[in-house]
Amino acid sequence: MSSDHVAIESSLQENRLFPPSAQFSAQSHIKSRQQYEQMYRQSIDDPDTFWGNVAKELSWSRPWDKVLDWKSPYAKWFVGGQTNMAVNCLDRNIERGLGDKVAILWEGEPLAQGKSPEIRRITYRQLHQMTNRFANGLRKLGVKKGDRVTIYMPMVPEAAVAMLACARIGAPHSVIFGGFSSQAISDRVIDAQSQYLITSDGGWRRGSVVELKKNVDEALTKTDLIKKVIVLKHTGQQIPWIEGRDVDWKDVIDGASDQCAAEPMDSEDLLYVLYTSGSTGKPKGIIHTTGGYMVGCYLTTKYTFDLHDNDVYWCTADIGWVTGHSYVVYGPLCNGATTFMYEGAPNFPDFSRFWDIIERHKITIFYTAPTAIRAFMKAGRELVDKHDLSSLRVLGSVGEPINPEAWIWYQQVIGHGKCPIVDTWWQTETGCIMITPLPGVTATKPGTATLPFFGIDAAVVDRTGKELPPNQGGLLVMRKPWPSMLRGIFNDPDRYVRQYWSDVPGCYFSGDGARRDSDGYFWIMGRVDDVLNVSGHRLGTAEIESALVSHEAVAEAAVVGVPHEMKGQGVAAFVTLKAGYHASDDLKKQLLNTVVKAIGAIARPDQIRFSEALPKTRSGKIMRRLLKELAGTGDVKGDVTTLEDFSVIARLKESDEG
Ligand code: WTA
Repeated sequence: MSSDHVAIESSLQENRLFPPSAQFSAQSHIKSRQQYEQMYRQSIDDPDTFWGNVAKELSWSRPWDKVLDWKSPYAKWFVGGQTNMAVNCLDRNIERGLGDKVAILWEGEPLAQGKSPEIRRITYRQLHQMTNRFANGLRKLGVKKGDRVTIYMPMVPEAAVAMLACARIGAPHSVIFGGFSSQAISDRVIDAQSQYLITSDGGWRRGSVVELKKNVDEALTKTDLIKKVIVLKHTGQQIPWIEGRDVDWKDVIDGASDQCAAEPMDSEDLLYVLYTSGSTGKPKGIIHTTGGYMVGCYLTTKYTFDLHDNDVYWCTADIGWVTGHSYVVYGPLCNGATTFMYEGAPNFPDFSRFWDIIERHKITIFYTAPTAIRAFMKAGRELVDKHDLSSLRVLGSVGEPINPEAWIWYQQVIGHGKCPIVDTWWQTETGCIMITPLPGVTATKPGTATLPFFGIDAAVVDRTGKELPPNQGGLLVMRKPWPSMLRGIFNDPDRYVRQYWSDVPGCYFSGDGARRDSDGYFWIMGRVDDVLNVSGHRLGTAEIESALVSHEAVAEAAVVGVPHEMKGQGVAAFVTLKAGYHASDDLKKQLLNTVVKAIGAIARPDQIRFSEALPKTRSGKIMRRLLKELAGTGDVKGDVTTLEDFSVIARLKESDEG
């Protein structure tokens, strides 16, 4: 946690209340505040009964002996139980009679001449067959239970098939966002010690092809761990082929049976690793296991979105993020829902694409990020008003605090005042939604994620763990374990304890600041550590700094977040140069490229400032607080008494702002 951070103040005051309509509540799974309170109480006071009952709704090949084994900070859920995530997402639904229901409804990005996109409707039965054939193919290639499989794919149904096939044979996946660079791929392959990689020739994004296979080829010049690269031919351009290593997806499934015995997975067996940014330069591989995560995905999807059988559900996240794991693939599928996937960009060919999609497919539940909502607002409501969005019933938001202005726009322009908005707070580490309204229950206020989900003992505390009175800002912690919580950091058990369980005694510390209002609603105030949230994507300042200092001209770099109208937070970089190098536009371009190459375009700094020195404390620590203030407001008014060299600030102010 940054020691610069003294107190967290919030000036946000928003008291408008939006209760659900009586009609909405009447048809919801959870219908009243009283029902929520009663279930919440049980989930906290008697978690064994509460979660045991939920888990019984799913299918297990061996029942558990014990619901929870908690030796802080290590939790085991459904101890001794055996199950399989793919069986619960597929076989269980077919057995329930949903074989002919559409599981994945997909739309590609390109628009043909008549402006009609490619649409695929894959039923549960078909998805089961596709998954089984691919799973058998993986086994034939030598993939065994416990082997980590890296997935670097566009948003196509085969990406979900790849994840489900891995789950079926017990090979944990490590999905890498398709927007990450080759450097990010090789780092993650090496950390996960992965021997198999699944990719595609390319993916469509804003009318052009993102060359995924090319990035993979480049990444694999830095490691020879990978034995097989499975390539889905999707965009169809010419790609280099390495005989013996590269295998066509078609050949993997060719002749493979559509029956595949699922690996019985211990409840605590690894389901996946997902890399996310922390406060050091090295991304951490968050570990999620099978049973508890599955139960969490199942229940949160059902209640948070008030999911019913005839819903057409769309979460716009990429499968490369945790939201894509839990709420595009696993949560909706283990509920037997129809999950919609769109391959491309929200603004292709223009900003009406999402509204086209909602109208065309009669989407009923729509879950997206505030940064997208702000972009749509800017594009103008005319684009929305041309469409019939009357199928929508529930709207969701995730990834960053939603500003009340965007919330109201979402509620009125997209939801026409009739759809509850669920502002869901959670993290890669939490696996599932933690703080959220329930659409039939909670009277919402713009900008707050409201109340904890079942089983979540969230609190706002000070550094000693003492709960703070209403409206006082503090640290957001969880005081009890929950089923979908991370089980550790891959290859780095110590970091798990240090990072999450050391700041506040006895609690999981989220890294976020928050306050509770007098109704008990949680208002998330953003990260209090060195993690940025750019367009809802997590980036460590240290990661960007280490990319910058890898350039030969850079002596030292400090990266801070600045308020950004569209992205929520933008990236400002302060750079000092080695002797003999001089600031120039060309150098600035080179530095921007260096960051894009090392991490990906999402990390590209919005400002680079060259400076002779950085403000430091006497002990040599960079005072990011001052840089943040300077980059955000152009001035420094905060406390500078611990600054070692006062003239640095004056010189920084004069520095180029480009
Ligand atoms: C932020 C994404 C405010 C928060 C699911 C958290 C939010 C980080 C919200 C996790 C929200 C996510 N309101 N802030 N509704 N949702 N955040 O791991 O700072 O990519 O710690 O998981 O996003 O980002 P991650």
